Amino acid sequence: MTDRYAVIGNPIEQSKSPFIHMAFAQVTGQDIDYGKVLGPLGGFAQAVDAFRAAGGRGMNVTAPFKLDAFAYATDLAPSAQMAGAVNAMKFEGERVYAENFDGVGLVRDVVHNLACPLKGKRVLVLGAGGATRGALLPFLAEQPAELVVVNRTVAKAQELAQLAHKHQTGQVPVQGLGYEQLQGKQFDVVFNATSASLTAELPPLPASVFAPGALAYELAYGKGLTPFLKLAQQAGVTHLADGVGMLAEQAAEAFVWWRGVRPDTTSVIQQLTVPLV
Ligand code: ATR
Repeated sequence: MTDRYAVIGNPIEQSKSPFIHMAFAQVTGQDIDYGKVLGPLGGFAQAVDAFRAAGGRGMNVTAPFKLDAFAYATDLAPSAQMAGAVNAMKFEGERVYAENFDGVGLVRDVVHNLACPLKGKRVLVLGAGGATRGALLPFLAEQPAELVVVNRTVAKAQELAQLAHKHQTGQVPVQGLGYEQLQGKQFDVVFNATSASLTAELPPLPASVFAPGALAYELAYGKGLTPFLKLAQQAGVTHLADGVGMLAEQAAEAFVWWRGVRPDTTSVIQQLTVPLV
């Protein structure tokens, strides 16, 4: 029997999830159907209830419902608790298991696909919102030399640094800073996890933060050469990436969780890549 899955969001037309999961199903021989659900604003729970009642086995969750899914879940994985948001649910009887695979997908893309180990590296993350929160533990698990979170609103960066210290088992130094405190500091990997790229804005980042040979990684996907990537390029950075690999890898994590088999992401990433120009 075909097992049903879907992504829920509002809007939802733009979602690449059905394409990605159906491609995974094809290469792994899994008998699934994966659709799109336009969740009414204020009507998340009813829409998910209806999908479950019709036999749905699991859902991905996208904007603006990641917090609604957090509230809806009966069993939150540590990744979801840490992120304070849910991007994947699995339904088993009355139970709603919930995960957040964005952070682990990001790290897998960087370490595995881009062949850029984070161990021993100086890592800088711009932004202290949900995206950064979800990536903190996966970053720390890689044991970078240091992790700096920089944010316009410095208190939020400091809060995340404290949260990271509380949860990590290793000894990675974590700091929360303001942009002006980055003068004179350099990093091997710089992630833009702000929402600035969605509005073509540039965080006030000094171009001097990129160490020789650095990787500049834009978490947003499909926006081409964003102001952040342009700044990096002008600073001499040649290793530029956007979030296409993160998108594919978080989907792959959900697929493994649901189906017990890991799909290869290479072909999906190739097909979804938008040139960085
Ligand atoms: P998400 O869940 O996508 O991380 P969010 O929680 O709304 O989104 O967080 C957005 C992040 O982008 C915040 O860190 C925000 O900075 P503030 O906390 O100071 O508001 C950051 N951000 C948004 N626009 C920005 C800009 N133009 N320059 C710098 N940072 C920006």
